[in-house]
This record gives sequence, C-alpha cells and structure tokens, in this order.
Amino acid sequence: MKVLSTPSKQNIKSAARALIEGHLVAFPTETVYGLGGNAENVQAIEKIYVAKGRPINHPIIVHISSSTHLSDWAITIPEYAFTLAEKFWPGPMTLILERSEKADDFITGGQKTVGVRVPNHIVALDLLREFNEIGGRGIAAPSANLFGKVSPTNAEAVADAIGSKLSEQDWILDGGNCKIGIESTIVSCLSAKPYILRPGAVTEEMIKAVVQLEVNTETEVKHSGSGDNHYAPIAQVFLDEIPNIGDGFFALREFPTPLGAVRLASPKNLNDFASELYEAFRLADKKGIDKIFVMSPPRIGLGIAIYDRLAKSRYKN
Ligand code: TXA
Ligand code: MG
Repeated sequence: MKVLSTPSKQNIKSAARALIEGHLVAFPTETVYGLGGNAENVQAIEKIYVAKGRPINHPIIVHISSSTHLSDWAITIPEYAFTLAEKFWPGPMTLILERSEKADDFITGGQKTVGVRVPNHIVALDLLREFNEIGGRGIAAPSANLFGKVSPTNAEAVADAIGSKLSEQDWILDGGNCKIGIESTIVSCLSAKPYILRPGAVTEEMIKAVVQLEVNTETEVKHSGSGDNHYAPIAQVFLDEIPNIGDGFFALREFPTPLGAVRLASPKNLNDFASELYEAFRLADKKGIDKIFVMSPPRIGLGIAIYDRLAKSRYKN
C-alpha cells in the first residue's frame, strides 16, 4: 500500500493508473475521504465492500470530473437536476438519478437509481481528470471508514481505519484535512421536485433558492446512515447532557468546559463544528475516553446536517 502519499502530479497519475488496473485509491474530497475504485470494475468494487465490511446492498456514489459525464451514469435527468448541478458542482452534493446501463447492480446495490457527485477538491478533481485521460469514466467511492463508523477527515484517519485492509498496489493520497468534514447532501431527483435524503453543506435554503423542493422526509429509498449506530465512535455519544470528570466534551467555543471534563475541540462557528467533529470523536477513542458529551449546535443552515449526524451517532441504549 502506498500510504499517505503526497498528491504530486506524478503520484496522482500513478494512482489513476492503479484505479484502471483495478486497485483502490483513497483520496480526499472537500467533505470526507473516499475509498475509490473504478466504477466499471466489479472486482475493484467488491474489494471496497470487503475493506469496509459493508453490506452488499448499499449503493456507492459515483464521482465524476464534471457534469458533462453525468449522462454516462444517469438517464432521464430532470431539468432541475441540471440546474442543481450547474449551481452546486463541483461541491458537496450528490444527485440520485435513474441509472444508465453502465451503472451496474454492483454500484447501485441492485437499485434502479444511481448517486453521482463532482467533488470540489483539487486532488479529487486532478485524480478524476487523469483517470478520464486513460479511459476511466467514474470513481465509485464510499467514505473511507469501516461500515457504520466515523468518516475520515484526514489521511491518517483513513490509514487507521482501513490501512490494514489495503494491498501493496492500493493508494492513500494525503490531501490534508477536509474543509467541510461531514458527508455530502444527498438529493433525490426521481420525482417532479427534488428532495433531500441526507442533509449536508448544500443546505435546504441554498437549494430552495434555485429550485422548488419537495417537502418530504420519509422515503423508501435505501441510503446508509439511516440505520442505527451510524457515524459512531467507540465512545458513547450523549447530546446536551452534563459530563462527569474524565468524560469528553465537544461544544462551540462560547461554552465553557464543565469541571473535570476533557475538552476535545472548541470550534468557533458551525463550519468549524462540522470540520472538527469526526476528528474529535477519533481523538476521544484514541485517548480511551468512554463517553463524549456534545452540546448540539443551533439547527439552522449547516447545523441541520451536523445535528443529523449527531442524532445518528448518539448512544442508544
Ligand atoms: O461526501 C460524500 O458523500 C462522501 C465522499 C467520499 O464523496 N461519500 C459518502 O459515501 O459519504 P457513503 O457511501 O459513505 O455514503 C453515501 C450514501 C450511501 O450510504 C448510499 O446509501 C447513498 O449515499 N446512496 C448512494 N447511491 C444511492 C442511491 N442510488 N439511492 C439512494 N442512496 C444512495
Ligand atoms: Mg459513509
């Protein structure tokens, strides 16, 4: 495994080549790190499932270099989906569309739809472009963590989570810390109007400013993170409760640390709250802390996505 490689032009070229040859490449995006494989190669995608310990019926997002490649993977694309793509790509938004023939069952988990995204990260985009140059069409990539665990927001977190599952020919490209730190907004584009399946940094207000949004939170469409025990660290996560001595504490800077608690981070605003959250969870696990107390942020803007992840990671007894 080529661990923690600097994303030089040469390394990105070699990593793109490795993808074409059926190997895996973990790479940074603006949201979280992805574990990538050639979306047209069933053996490569099987390796992703094995490395993550992921159930086979969970679909994987296909990453493309620009919306011009959308028609490779999706058909009957509604006009509003093009509007969203135009407005928010490259960026932290995944569109769920009717799949093309190329989007095989091993990508879509057997569903008739496919998730597609253009990430906004220089390393991801360079990798995708190099991959296109040598005949690749899309990089399928779930977050580069073990199934149900916290998404990695830096290369070291990737190596810790799945490094031991990768082979000599696989790569981890080190692009530093992810700017956003929580996973993309997932928007279903299968009805007359779009609706949000997973909130993210492209917020409801941002989407409503360009297209009409379906008011619908219930959906039959399977998407990960909707089950219990998702996005969870080893430590038990508690929301808006008072920690005891030795417990972990994560809150906006304006909240003082309760006596005896271990401050994990002091984000100054919602953006920092999102980008520091998963690393704080990882830090707590490394320190052997059993309980993490999080003061949940205001549920506006990005706070809605943060709260969604907190609600999923919280300890359920
Ligand atoms: O920000 C992100 O979205 C990151 C980066 C790497 O792009 N990726 C990510 O992938 O979070 P993943 O697999 O950990 O979570 C994406 C979720 C999946 O759980 C999957 O269920 C859902 O997107 N998804 C993918 N294709 C879908 C589809 N056709 N229909 C419904 N949900 C889908
Ligand atoms: Mg994930």
